[in-house]
Amino acid sequence: MDKRFNTIAGWAFAGGIAVIGFSILSSSYFHADQNERPEKMGYAIAGVAAEAGAGAPAGPEPIANRLAQADAAKGEATFGKCKACHTIDQGAPNGIGPNLYGVVGEAMATGRGGFAFSDALKGKGGKWDFANLDEWLTSPKKFADGTKMSFAGLADPMDRANVIAYLNSKGSNLPLPAPEAAAAPAADTSAEASEAP
Ligand code: HEC
Repeated sequence: MDKRFNTIAGWAFAGGIAVIGFSILSSSYFHADQNERPEKMGYAIAGVAAEAGAGAPAGPEPIANRLAQADAAKGEATFGKCKACHTIDQGAPNGIGPNLYGVVGEAMATGRGGFAFSDALKGKGGKWDFANLDEWLTSPKKFADGTKMSFAGLADPMDRANVIAYLNSKGSNLPLPAPEAAAAPAADTSAEASEAP
């Protein structure tokens, strides 16, 4: 009886040592005690475009697909982050940034009551559309190096889609692009986001 107890206790003790040993080994192997940056980040970083050509379907869903699920009301809430610098109602004055009424579909960095745009943005040329607004709002600096818009960007792809849907509802109302196939089986395509308020 005693002997058996000793044997059991012995094995339990040995087991304990093994566990401790293993945890030391594994923590040194996995660097659990060090705050290292993982080689491959598990989530998208604002402004870091998915590396082209890597083959992996990395990066956010296409803007068209996100817009199909976007919610302009949520975008209005997100627009709270923009309000320090931007107005959006028709005829409202420019602030630190230009008034944004009807900006979707308009030529970049033009009009807006004579707002003094940066050369960086003026140099881009072209019109604002859903895709380049998505890019712009991911990281204004990456989109137009030297821009006056000192705003880090919206890291969440859905936040961007919502805010773009909101911008579109304010004086633009452009038709949303058709979602790209191969993504989720057409969820709710009724696109309420495009409804004018
Ligand atoms: C700190 C102030 C600031 C914040 C915050 C800010 N912006 Fe801007 N925004 C600017 C300035 C300044 C410009 C002009 C940029 C330039 O000329 O380079 C601009 C330009 C723009 C333009 C281009 C307008 C045009 O006519 O070409 C859009 C679109 C825009 N901002 C959207 C947004 C949205 C959406 C947000 C919030 C998610 C936001 N901005 C947050 C200051 C700001």
